[in-house]
Amino acid sequence: MGLLRPAVEDVQARHPNAVMVDAGSGNAYLGFVLYELFLKNADSGALLSIEGRPELTERAQGRAQRLGFTRMQFQTAHIDTATYPERIHLLMALHACDTATDDALVAAIRHGADHVAVVPCCQAEVAAQLKEKRPVVASSGSMSLLYAHAWHRREFGSHLTNVIRALTLEAFGYQVTVTELTGWEHSLKNELILGRRVHRENRRARAQLERLLAETGVTPKLTRELGVKPTAAAGGTVSSTEAPESPGPASSEPAPASAGSEA
Ligand SMILES: C[S@@+](CC[C@H](N)C(=O)[O-])C[C@H]1O[C@@H](n2cnc3c(N)ncnc32)[C@H](O)[C@@H]1O
Repeated sequence: MGLLRPAVEDVQARHPNAVMVDAGSGNAYLGFVLYELFLKNADSGALLSIEGRPELTERAQGRAQRLGFTRMQFQTAHIDTATYPERIHLLMALHACDTATDDALVAAIRHGADHVAVVPCCQAEVAAQLKEKRPVVASSGSMSLLYAHAWHRREFGSHLTNVIRALTLEAFGYQVTVTELTGWEHSLKNELILGRRVHRENRRARAQLERLLAETGVTPKLTRELGVKPTAAAGGTVSSTEAPESPGPASSEPAPASAGSEA
């Protein structure tokens, strides 16, 4: 909650009818705490929990009714085919399995979310792609040694997936922070990716992303869904001076008015 608070307070300050979405909500523990702290005493604003397992949705819905949390809504659906409000203000996905985190990020980007907060879970897709494909970088060095063993492939695939997720958010105009969620004794899947939309797009990050996809040969669901294609670098590797931590104005389009105010 401490990590989410700035995002929640920001959307509540700017959007009286802020819509928050919890994708892959499970028992909706995150939603209940969030509602208790930020929505219960607010006049408006809603929280939509999306969960694929109907028994979890029903149980959480009953609990919300008992608590009188009337602006808590539930939908049994897959994250990629769920019905979303036209505009999402904050999207969260806590331990949404494998590509479900990608589906959540796609929904956030397509629905103009001001803030996103995802903690990815188990990841298999990119590790499988690394096994199938021969990355371009491997031909010029020893990069493939990083994932020759299945165990390393899983870890490297997981890392690469999250790097691509963070870079994709940047390419679509988000300022990104990657940090630790909690102590390792609670979860090994502990990487929190926070995004705050500050531009419409970031062309420099987009070029870096396209190059990374080309050099690694992977095509995760996130970039497939968003139509980001790999593009080989004209002149070799990415220099560190081309890779600032946050998007600079020179390479970025400002966010549309709807990203900063109620459209
Ligand atoms: C590890 S649990 C986390 C639940 C909750 N976010 C939490 O942190 O307590 C992952 C949840 O995401 C749901 N899930 C996984 N993939 C999904 C998808 N594609 N669409 C909807 N729900 C999904 C699972 O059914 C499960 O309840």
